Amino acid sequence: MQKLQITKLDQPFDIVIDNIASDKSISHRCAMFSLLSDKTSTIKNYLRAEDTLDSLKIARKLGAKVEDDGQTIKITPPQNLTEPDDILDCGNAGTGMRLYAGLLAGIDGSFILTGDKYLRSRPMKRVTNPLKKIGAKIDGREEANKAPLHIRGGKLKSFKYHSPIDSAQVKSALILAALRANDISYYKENLLSRDHTERMLNGMGANISLEDDGWIKIDPLTKPLKPLDIIVPTDPSSAFFFAVAAAIVPKSKVTLKNLTLNPTRIEAYKILEKMGAKITYIEKENIYEPIGDIIVEHDQLNGVVVQDNIAWLIDELPALSIAMSVANGKSVVKNAKELRVKESDRINTVVQNLKLCGVGYIEYEDGYLIEGNATLQKATIDSCGDHRIAMSFAIAGLLCGMDIENTACIDTSFPNFIQIIDSLKG
Ligand code: S3P
Repeated sequence: MQKLQITKLDQPFDIVIDNIASDKSISHRCAMFSLLSDKTSTIKNYLRAEDTLDSLKIARKLGAKVEDDGQTIKITPPQNLTEPDDILDCGNAGTGMRLYAGLLAGIDGSFILTGDKYLRSRPMKRVTNPLKKIGAKIDGREEANKAPLHIRGGKLKSFKYHSPIDSAQVKSALILAALRANDISYYKENLLSRDHTERMLNGMGANISLEDDGWIKIDPLTKPLKPLDIIVPTDPSSAFFFAVAAAIVPKSKVTLKNLTLNPTRIEAYKILEKMGAKITYIEKENIYEPIGDIIVEHDQLNGVVVQDNIAWLIDELPALSIAMSVANGKSVVKNAKELRVKESDRINTVVQNLKLCGVGYIEYEDGYLIEGNATLQKATIDSCGDHRIAMSFAIAGLLCGMDIENTACIDTSFPNFIQIIDSLKG
């Protein structure tokens, strides 16, 4: 339980930030997918934050050799993944737990996935139910809805599954299971969620294709995949805190370097642009994903209605709520019930903390209305153990000062966040 005091910024900033945390989603997948090869994967810029280091520790417990010289991580998988003699601790990471559940469901052995008190309270039946239907043996509290989960991996049947939730975690868990199934499987979601899994696995030689009718076709593996050779790009969700900072601090500008520009990840920047911020996208290369820089400049922000493509901005809505609070006029977020089952109930933690800062709101079951035109007031905020809540209100604090409690969670995704906030002061 750490505390963070943010002081009001008394001057604009114009900076280039090239040390934002590496992408969390891609880093988790590097640790896991390297286990599907029979050769050594080479990973540069792996995110060294609690969530992704936990995924790496699990890879080790499953028998992988992990060499880390501080720059490059090399992961050599064992010939066959080994049954660990201990629990597999995913810490705070929903991605870690749900993807490993899918990967381990098809591996012969007994595995126990657990996590911290926040993760142990989050719903897992979205992955365990479809996995059980294809033959996985999984148990846990509330009929395998809550961790600890016990997985007895084994043979899996192919499937055709239309997911009721647009979730990359569910999709990835099912794709990983499908790779071990007895025949071709099909998966569908209503909105394409982040597609790092498909891109990376195809880059490693898997056969996963999006059909014209929206079904994702997954061929089971017939041989080990090629190893990964990847430089993990910067995380656009982590960078987005500084995009909002530039958008709300008058006369400010930030250049965010080397982000993944994957369209499923930069929707929040499009919303900020729609609100009035000046945004420039510069694509530089394309390796597994388009990669480049994003420049964000302050301008007058206006209220906005956000109700489409929610899965593409689910992680950025807390930070966007800060921009919405100071924008001209009302903003509305709808169709975002998923926010209630993130690292905290983010609908509740956003509006309760905004209220403490003097912002008017209406809470809905699936979102909120934010009054806008607020002059933010300094308050004492509780992150409720949610890294994105802690960092969003730290950004709000640039306008008014802020005391934030329970900030150790920032280390789950963005350990040098505070150092970068300090650098805005010049
Ligand atoms: C993630 C998917 C998203 C996102 C999470 C990371 C991933 O969750 O919120 O931070 O890496 O697949 P859902 O897919 O469950 O919405």
